[in-house]
Amino acid sequence: MRLENRVAVITGGTRGLGRAIAQRYLEEGAQVLCAARRPHEIDELVQLHPGRVHYQPVDVTCPKSVDALMAAAEERWGRIDILVANAGLNRDGKVDRLPTESWDEMVATNLNGVFYCVQSAARRMVARGSGRIITVSSSMSSRVAIGAAGYSATKAAVETLTRVSAIELGRKGVQVNCLAPGVLEEGMGAEVADNPKVWEAYRSRFSLGRAGTLDEAAHGAVFLACAESSYVNGHVLEVNGGLLWA
Ligand SMILES: NC(=O)c1ccc[n+]([C@@H]2O[C@H](COP(=O)([O-])OP(=O)(O)OC[C@H]3O[C@@H](n4cnc5c(N)ncnc54)[C@H](OP(=O)(O)O)[C@@H]3O)[C@@H](O)[C@H]2O)c1
Repeated sequence: MRLENRVAVITGGTRGLGRAIAQRYLEEGAQVLCAARRPHEIDELVQLHPGRVHYQPVDVTCPKSVDALMAAAEERWGRIDILVANAGLNRDGKVDRLPTESWDEMVATNLNGVFYCVQSAARRMVARGSGRIITVSSSMSSRVAIGAAGYSATKAAVETLTRVSAIELGRKGVQVNCLAPGVLEEGMGAEVADNPKVWEAYRSRFSLGRAGTLDEAAHGAVFLACAESSYVNGHVLEVNGGLLWA
């Protein structure tokens, strides 16, 4: 029970990686607010952990919506101990063809959305003198793949935002770290893992020779939230099966 009674807000906590992190946090004793535009697969968690997990609608591209989410967590539990800024999306497209709408959507969700969440949670955590913020990037932040310009650029920006936030907030009691998964079997990674042609091109690049599970990545988010990482700040934790990108 490494997160007993800790209050966590997880954006994109209704399916995929965010939901897996919520599940792990609940098993470690936390109280969790799962937020997204739709509730998706939240019902099972609510039934398994009645009273300790709730769904809150949010659109992370809207600062007012994000602030209302943080306020709702405080209203319910009196504080926010942990923020996992996980909500994100991918729109593939080569730079000369990527619709500007797709670029804007990725910047609005993956970068602006993370900033709004970090800012709103940080203000509250600084006022209390403690907190953990975990952003979510991707192995694609520092590797190149055709069609990934928008996704990679926004994830690289998230890592820089993480490091700057960490040095600004560390002495105020708030630690900021980043979880960077590789290709996971589910969530948006399924597009790669489930497509035999694409997967063949990727497989040789993983030293473990397989995609990761949502749960394996979620363990990283537990570590970055619990007492065992009390001296970790501004770190990007890659959980990617030893990705070698030739
Ligand atoms: N799965 C992987 O292999 C992998 C690998 C590396 C990094 N990641 C990162 O992990 C994070 C989660 O990915 P995933 O694979 O779990 O994706 P997913 O299954 O598509 O889930 C995305 C979650 O984000 C929410 N979301 C999207 N836009 C939102 C918005 N504007 N406001 C609020 N919530 C929003 C979605 O709910 P709604 O659409 O209902 O809002 C959903 O709950 C992402 O940041 C992704 O880049 C995943």
